[in-house]
Amino acid sequence: MSSDNKDKKPTRSSHSYGKLDKDGFIHRSWMKSEGLPDDAFDGRPVIGICNTWSELTPCNAHLREIAEYVKRGVWEAGGLPLEFPVMSLGETQMRPTAMLFRNLVSMDVEESIRGNPIDGVVLLGGCDKTTPAQLMGAASVDLPTMVISSGPMLNGKHCGSDIGSGTDVWKFSEDVRAGKMPLKDFLKAETGMSRTPGTCMTMGSASTFACLVEAMGLSLPFNGTIPAVDASRRSMAHLTGRRMVDLVREDRKLSSYLTRECLENAIRVLAAIGGSTNAVLHLLAIAGRLGLDLSIDDFDEFTRDVPLLVNLQPSGKYLMEDFHYAGGVPFVLKTLGSLIKTDFETVSGKTIGEIAQEAEGYNADVLHTLDKPVKKNAGIWVLRGNLCPNGALIKPSAASDELLTHEARAVVFQNIEDMKARLDDPDLEVDENSILVLKGCGPKGYPGMPEVGNMPLPQKLLEKGVRDMVRISDARMSGTAFGTVILHVSPEAEAGGPLAFVETGDMIRLDGPARSLDVLVSEEEMARRKAKWPGPETAPKYTRGYYKLYIDHVLQADEGADLDFLVGSSGSEVLRESH
Ligand code: FES
Repeated sequence: MSSDNKDKKPTRSSHSYGKLDKDGFIHRSWMKSEGLPDDAFDGRPVIGICNTWSELTPCNAHLREIAEYVKRGVWEAGGLPLEFPVMSLGETQMRPTAMLFRNLVSMDVEESIRGNPIDGVVLLGGCDKTTPAQLMGAASVDLPTMVISSGPMLNGKHCGSDIGSGTDVWKFSEDVRAGKMPLKDFLKAETGMSRTPGTCMTMGSASTFACLVEAMGLSLPFNGTIPAVDASRRSMAHLTGRRMVDLVREDRKLSSYLTRECLENAIRVLAAIGGSTNAVLHLLAIAGRLGLDLSIDDFDEFTRDVPLLVNLQPSGKYLMEDFHYAGGVPFVLKTLGSLIKTDFETVSGKTIGEIAQEAEGYNADVLHTLDKPVKKNAGIWVLRGNLCPNGALIKPSAASDELLTHEARAVVFQNIEDMKARLDDPDLEVDENSILVLKGCGPKGYPGMPEVGNMPLPQKLLEKGVRDMVRISDARMSGTAFGTVILHVSPEAEAGGPLAFVETGDMIRLDGPARSLDVLVSEEEMARRKAKWPGPETAPKYTRGYYKLYIDHVLQADEGADLDFLVGSSGSEVLRESH
C-alpha cells in the first residue's frame, strides 16, 4: 500500500481489493489482466465511470473519448478509474420509444454500481433518457456521484440560417405538408441539422436535464451548455475525475447534495430556461428513489413567479451554443437572485450562491432579465378537472397565448394508428377551433408514453395557414416541440381514466390561467360510457419479458412513471459474498 492511502478510512472497494486471502486474490488477479499494477489496489478510491456510449445513441457517441479525460483526473488525484458500459437509449433510434426503457436502464445502472467494487461514480449520459435513468439508478445506491453530460451539438445550419434540432424538423415537416417547402430542401436539412456529436442543441429534453443537473449542483459549472466538441468539455471531464476522488475521500454521498431544496431550484430553473415537460417525469422519479417529497403540484407552485429568461428554441429564438456564449446556467442562477436558494453546496465545493456571484452575462437578447423576460408565462401549468383528476401539464411558453383559454368541440382519435389513418381525411369534421384528442399513448397504453402529444395538424387546416390548435393526450411531447399541447393526462386512457370515455363531439373547456380542463359531459353520461368500456387495449398484446414487467408495474405520469417496485433505495450494501 502507498503511504498516501494506507492511513485513510477503508474504502468500500477495500472489501474486495484489500483482503490477503483467496477472495482478495480473485478480485485483484483478474483485474491485473488489464495491466493494472499492484498499487492500483492499495486502498485508493475506485471510481466507476458509468458510460452510456453507443453508436446507436449518436448524441452520446463521443462519451468514450470523454471518459478518457475523466480517467486522467482520477489517476492524477490518486484514484483508480474503471469504466463500465450500461444500456444506452438513442432517442431517435429506439422503438417504440426510449422512455419505455428508462426504468430498465436505471436497474442496469443501480445493480452495476452496487454489485461492483467501486467507491464513487461518474455518470456519462446525454441523450434524453440516459441521464435521468443513470441518476435514478445512482440515487437508489447512493454512493458519491457526479455527472458529465454529452453537451449540445453546434448550431445547425441550413441555407444560410441557424436551424434547431427537432424544433425545425416539426416546422419543416408541416411546411412540406402545407406545400410551402420542397421535399429536396427538407432532405437537405438533414445533414445541416446534426453537424457534430452531442445532444439536440435546442432546449429539448437532453439540454433541459443537463442544465438541471448543473442547477442542482451535481456537476461542475457549465455542464449544461459547453458544446460537445469544445475543448472545455474535455477539461471539465478531467476536473470532474479529480474532484470525484475528493468526494469519495470526504464521503459525500449523492443524497447529501440531491435534496428537496435542490429539486426546488431545479424546478425554478426549468421555468426560466423554458425546459422540457419530460423533466417533470424524471425529477418525480428521482425524488421517489431518494424518498423526497415531490409532487406535480410543486412544478406549478415553484414556477408561478418565474418568467422565461432564456431565449432559446422551441420557446424562443436561439440555440444552446448561443446560450453558452451568453453566460450559461450560472448567469441564469444570478438573474433568478432571491427566487432560488443559494446556500447549498454543489459537488464543485462551491455553493450555488458563489457560482451565481461569479457569473457574467454577455448577450441580453439571449439571456433576459426578470424585468424584461422573453415571456411572462413560463414554467409548467398543472391542470386538473374531470378530464384529468390526477393532473395534466401544459408548457405555456411553447403555447399560443390566445388558445390558453379555449372551449370547443373534441375530435377524438382512439390511438395513434387511428390518428394517422384519419387526420388528413378531407371529410374529417374539424376546423381550427376544434380540440384534437389522442388516447392510448400513456405509460401503459403505447406502451412507454411516446412523444406524440404535439400531434400534427390536419392537412386541410395547414393549407389554410393554421399553425396551432389545442391538443390533448396522455402522451409526452419532445422538449424540442411547441404548440398549445396538453400532455401527461392522468390517469391515462389505458388505465381507465376519464380520457378513455371522451367522444368526438363532446365539448371541452380549457382554462389555463385557472388551471382547469374539463369535458362538459354529465357525470351520469360518463358513468354510462365507463360501464361499456371494453378494458385495456395494449396489455393483452404483451405476455412476457420486459414489456410485461413494465406494463404490470409502471406508475402513472403524475407519479413519475417509475416502476412501483423501484421506488425507494436499497443503499450500497451487498449482503452476500460472490464466492
Ligand atoms: Fe438525443 Fe435529442 S435525440 S438528445
